[in-house]
Order: sequence, then structure tokens, then C-alpha cells
Amino acid sequence: MKNESSLARTIDQVTGGTRLRRLRQNDWVRRLVRESDVSVNDLIWPIFVREGDGAPEPVASMPGVFRYSVKGCVEAAQRAADLGIPVIALFPFTNPELRDETGSQALNADNLVCRATRAIKDAVPEIGILCDVALDPYTSHGHDGVVREGRILNDESVELLCRQAVVQAQAGCDIIGPSDMMDGRVSCIRAALDGEGLRDTMIMSYAAKYASAFYGPFRDAVGSTGALKGDKRTYQMDMGNAAEAIREAAQDIAEGADMIMVKPGLPYLDILAKLVEEFRMPTFAYQTSGEYSVIMAAAQNGWIDGDKAMFETLRAFKRAGASGVLSYFSPRVAEALQQR
Ligand code: PBG
Repeated sequence: MKNESSLARTIDQVTGGTRLRRLRQNDWVRRLVRESDVSVNDLIWPIFVREGDGAPEPVASMPGVFRYSVKGCVEAAQRAADLGIPVIALFPFTNPELRDETGSQALNADNLVCRATRAIKDAVPEIGILCDVALDPYTSHGHDGVVREGRILNDESVELLCRQAVVQAQAGCDIIGPSDMMDGRVSCIRAALDGEGLRDTMIMSYAAKYASAFYGPFRDAVGSTGALKGDKRTYQMDMGNAAEAIREAAQDIAEGADMIMVKPGLPYLDILAKLVEEFRMPTFAYQTSGEYSVIMAAAQNGWIDGDKAMFETLRAFKRAGASGVLSYFSPRVAEALQQR
């Protein structure tokens, strides 16, 4: 066809013969040239622990997510290990009568998280365990630190957070995840762990954690929604700031963080990419509860393809340079990867 070939010649002239679609023409070549992808090794699965020994309890605002008994956590950990997921992260639903002003349950070596950690280490030693360090699941006011006259006290909070970290590490936690955003907590936690001979315990700091609307369903899952008085803007970061994220991460790294995290995930991909570029540290994204529930809600309404959206977001984290992702989708992703 004369017309087509003259058009082809024109296109070849302007493109210099490069046709980028050549590398997209079928599945095998797309796979062959793909720059990044998600694997089971990238996944950290956050799970919720509760008292009692009943069946898993659904979290209303997070379809497909449950609160497990300690025994249920062991089963979940076994499932994760069977799927090849490297790490699970534990978050407690503390009964309201156990919550107080200073979050004293955080320091109890027999609290839910510590019992679940010991039970999992005992039954599924091959899986890693990450435990959050912050007081909010334990305080009556829902803040991550100690409150006095409406202010969240930094240094008094750090003192408790160090003790919480030690208690969790002694229970068998492999990675301590300070999510509280107090100043100086990474170095103090490192010193406290080392002081107890816990030199192998790793620290993954929530280096850039923003005050975000995307934590809503999580607060429902750990039962702090009704409890939280005010907001967390005096310690979590302001969403307009990017340079400050670099300062936060530099500080945590200087203080001894082994790995850093950005949270939330998708709305802060620019921050993730910047930190990867700047520090070349193992850097993780937290795909938060709100990000999970947004996808689930739209998928349940038939407005988007949930599976495709799930993979698209996880690939976005990897493309931005993340070493891995904390995601409530983890078991579903791992299962889908197995079926490929
Ligand atoms: C505790 C903590 C929060 C999350 C992880 N650790 C909530 C908060 O800071 O209010 C949120 C996780 C999620 O939304 O999935 N400090």
C-alpha cells in the first residue's frame, strides 16, 4: 500500500526508526524488558491481634482484614511463611479498660503483642516479626506519646518508647518500627537495645510519617478512633513538606536506623523516590489502611478492577525505588504471584 508506506517513511523520518511500541507487542517481551516488578520478597504483612481465642473478627472499614487471637496470629504467620512472605508486622487491639494516660500496657512484657510475638517465634521461627513502637494503641487519649496540658511531651515519651522497644525485642521481635515521630527516639532506642545486649535487633524507622487522613481505618482496627483527642499534627509531618523529609531521614540514619520508611505510600511517592536517591538505604513504603480501603471499596462497587489496582500500586512503589512495602494486600499478592 503506497499510502501506508509513505506514511511509514514519514514516521521513520521523525522517529529515526525508533518505534517504542515494538517492545510492547506481546506479553513475553513486556516481561523481558520490565524495569521493576513486585515479588513475594518485597512484602511485609501487617496483622491485628486481639484478646480471646475466638474466630478472626472482621475490621468493618477494611474488607478482608481481620483481628486475630494469638492463636490466629500463629496461623496467619504460618500462612505467610508458606507463601514466602518474609515479615509480618503486629498491631494490637487493646481492650479499652486496659488503656490509660501513659499507655502502661506498652511496657507489659505479657501484653498482646509480646504474647503473639513469643507464640509466633515458637511455632514459625523462620518468619521475621516487626513491632511498632508508639503508645497510641495503649493510651486512653489515642496519642503516640505522653500528654500533659494538651501537649505531647517529647522526652518523657521517648523514655517510655525505649522501654517498649526493649520489652518487644526481648519477646523476640526482630525489627523495631518506631512510628511515634518523637525527636531523638532512634538513638535512644538503639542505646536501650544495645544496653540489654540486643545488638542484632534491627530498627526500621518511620522516618517520614505524615499527618494523614489515610490512617482512618487503622485507628478503627486498633480501636483508637473514638479515643483520639485532637490530631497528630504536632509530631507527624506536614503534608506540604519534602525537604523536611530529607532532614528527618538523615537524622534517623545518623541515629542508627537500619532501614527507613515513608508513610503513607502512594500519595507520597515523590518523597520515597527522593529518599532512595539521596540515601540509598533500604527504604520501605507503608501502603496504609486508607489506601487499602479506597481500593477495596471501589472494587466492591465494581468501579475498578481490584486485583489490577492492587498490582499497579505495588509496582509503583517498586518503580519509585522501594525495597519493599507494608501492605494489607500482602497475602493476596503472594497468592496471585504463585498462580502466575
Ligand atoms: C501508630 C501507627 C499508625 C499507623 C501505623 N502505626 C496510626 C497513626 O499514626 O495514627 C497507621 C497504619 C495504617 O493506616 O495502616 N502510631
